[in-house]
Amino acid sequence: MAENADKVWLGTSWKMTKTIGEALAYVETLADRQLPDAVQTFLVPAHTALAAVRGRMPANSPVLLGAQNAHWAAEGAGTGEVSMRMVADAGARLVEIGHSERREHHNETDESVSLKVRAALDAALVPLVCVGEPLAIREAGGDREFVRAQVSAALSRLSPAEVCRVVLAYEPIWAIGERGRPATPEEVAPVIEEIREEVARASGGRGCRAVLYGGSVNLDNAAALLERTGADGLFVGRTAWDVHRFLKLVDIAADHSARRLRGGREERVDRPHAPNTPSGSVAKGL
Ligand code: PGA
Repeated sequence: MAENADKVWLGTSWKMTKTIGEALAYVETLADRQLPDAVQTFLVPAHTALAAVRGRMPANSPVLLGAQNAHWAAEGAGTGEVSMRMVADAGARLVEIGHSERREHHNETDESVSLKVRAALDAALVPLVCVGEPLAIREAGGDREFVRAQVSAALSRLSPAEVCRVVLAYEPIWAIGERGRPATPEEVAPVIEEIREEVARASGGRGCRAVLYGGSVNLDNAAALLERTGADGLFVGRTAWDVHRFLKLVDIAADHSARRLRGGREERVDRPHAPNTPSGSVAKGL
């Protein structure tokens, strides 16, 4: 993960959309564009399109490809399942784990999430772990505690050094999908902070990234969610299913990165005797 440490993450899961042909049309449009170095883009197609998308992308493409799910077992009698090794073989370098739709409808639990995180690392995949509270927990004021417990469980099978290889996405359930209400930066920021605290604890104080935000991200709220939540990037559903909107989000992420770098430089000029801090961490308050 180290090479991506200071990048702004911007990615989309296509969920259960896009045939192989539709997926290829999307990546062909992407291939025409030079993507900014400052943004770590990622795409998470359905399993059926993964190998075709991989085959159509240049071998040195900076876009990380991911799978939406994989089983923790290496192989076996798991009808309808695919293993980590199989999604890696199809071209994935990242695997999404614990999305709320899978937690709610497909029996994903904290225990299965932790097994999958372990299996993903063993298969040299980046685990992208989704966490987030239901509305009732938020209304009762229990969001930070709830999410912290999910993060703690997800990381429970890792050594402290391995924790930094995980990407986390805070996705409050009430903010996701057609019936979701977009979260405000003020609602998101304290939970991102809580996740960072838990990651710091589990990693033995290593300054790991990345913590992303997801849930009803759109072209109007993306900049504020980047500027004011402390998140390292965005994980987007519906808005990014159209490649042109995805590219607009990439531009917003690149602008954010440029502002963050400028902010860091200005802060260093203002405070010449401040102790050295890793690039990007000043603006993020890490
Ligand atoms: P949405 O989905 O952007 O369509 O709300 C987000 C997600 O589920 O990651």
